[in-house]
Amino acid sequence: MLQTGANEALRQEFNTWAEAGKGESMEKEHRPIVEPMLAMMRLAPKDIVLDVGCGGGWLVRELASRVPQGRAIGMDLSDEMVERGRRASSSAKNTEFIVGNVDAIPREASSFDKVVSVESSYYWPDPAAGIREIFRVLRAGGAAWILINYFRDNPYCHQWAKLIPIPMHLLSGDEWAGLFRNAGFKEIVHRRIVDPTPTPETYTGRWFRDAAELAAFRREGALLVHGTKPS
Ligand SMILES: C[S@@+](CC[C@H](N)C(=O)[O-])C[C@H]1O[C@@H](n2cnc3c(N)ncnc32)[C@H](O)[C@@H]1O
Repeated sequence: MLQTGANEALRQEFNTWAEAGKGESMEKEHRPIVEPMLAMMRLAPKDIVLDVGCGGGWLVRELASRVPQGRAIGMDLSDEMVERGRRASSSAKNTEFIVGNVDAIPREASSFDKVVSVESSYYWPDPAAGIREIFRVLRAGGAAWILINYFRDNPYCHQWAKLIPIPMHLLSGDEWAGLFRNAGFKEIVHRRIVDPTPTPETYTGRWFRDAAELAAFRREGALLVHGTKPS
């Protein structure tokens, strides 16, 4: 019951983000840390890829262009995000958008070659269950790639908890890797992806105290965790 309430709170929060246009604007913030991950993923032209917490779907379209004979599926629990992603991707024929929760991905076991998730996993009410579900829907030999900007090892993001009105999980790189291990993944690696975006001289947003804190946050980098489902 608590879980249902938590999911409904998430849905409402991210529907509000979608209505404010954040599904689209997050591309600018996330692309600089996503590009290095895409380069490491070794996507094959026929891969079937799932993007968990796909938001407005910009990465689904990017993935689709890199798997021209395969398919990119975006899943999000926010129906508004999914609707906008679907609309913006109508010309990309090998894309698909579904409303769904990482706790119970509406797909059969072994459906995907790769699963990615960008800036979503720390919102999941039960991250361990989410990683287990990702393991279930991956085929043997498939890989999961999760990118996280809110994590314990980067002290310059901890203040976000006071700014976002939904609970978030502040785990370390080792703790995320442990969730991968407990789910059955092998070849687990966690590493930092430094954000190369130049920092402006002044910062007027709400996430950081000032430009110096934003620069320090970017220097620490995002956390990338990846692992393979054993063959
Ligand atoms: C910060 S946004 C990131 C969106 C997108 N990945 C991007 O980089 O632009 C986080 C997204 O995760 C989704 N999300 C959060 N919890 C989820 C869950 N339990 N299952 C599926 N999606 C979830 C939210 O609805 C939201 O669209």
